[in-house]
Amino acid sequence: MAPKNGFDKLASVYQALEYLTMAKDLEKSRFHYLDKAREAKRILILGEGDGRFLQRLLKVNSCATIDCVDASGGMLRQAQRRLLAENPKEKKRVRFHQAQAEQWSFLQKEYDLVVTLFFLDCFSGSNLEYVISQIHGSLKDKALWLWADFHIPPQGFWRWRAWLLVQTLYLIFSIFTGLKTQRLEDFPRYLETVGMKREEGISFQGGLLVSELWSWESKRET
Ligand SMILES: C[S@@+](CC[C@H](N)C(=O)[O-])C[C@H]1O[C@@H](n2cnc3c(N)ncnc32)[C@H](O)[C@@H]1O
Repeated sequence: MAPKNGFDKLASVYQALEYLTMAKDLEKSRFHYLDKAREAKRILILGEGDGRFLQRLLKVNSCATIDCVDASGGMLRQAQRRLLAENPKEKKRVRFHQAQAEQWSFLQKEYDLVVTLFFLDCFSGSNLEYVISQIHGSLKDKALWLWADFHIPPQGFWRWRAWLLVQTLYLIFSIFTGLKTQRLEDFPRYLETVGMKREEGISFQGGLLVSELWSWESKRET
């Protein structure tokens, strides 16, 4: 039997909690670049959560096979339930994997799209570096990476508001899920380090929520 995970406790109330704290703005950042997934054939979603992104993805993309990795069995069950309720015909296209990303055996050069939404903020330091390098190794040439996360803007009222909210969220997650990470890293810097290129980005709530599209092209490396 798979081990219990801290996020299991939040799985059934995750959506309600999100709407309570962020209204629909988290959804706006989650789905902003969804259309870029239309043509992808192999998709990796890390830290899918309760399946809301997967549900929408299956509606815009009719051909991809999708690997969904999440450490929480509770979150994966929510995602599976949603899939069976909303897109039952598509279930053959989706494989669910309950695993810690840092221990998962990533396929090499497999995916043309990877999705990490409010997932990288669960990592810091060498763990983050390792997970990003593993994700990067799993990308095919010209792959896209949809990334969204919290962000602290550089100055002013919005900076302090974002700082307070992010600290509060980390405190809540550390109490309810046992999450050890306590700070947001400079994620773009890590993505640039492995050779990813930022294509587009948008932010919501005065810069607190960022949603970006990154790309990978092997010949840029040389
Ligand atoms: C904050 S939630 C984000 C969920 C969803 N992607 C969203 O947009 O709201 C983080 C998700 O990542 C998963 N997760 C956290 N740490 C993980 C790890 N080390 N390996 C795999 N999944 C992890 C959690 O179980 C949870 O489903």
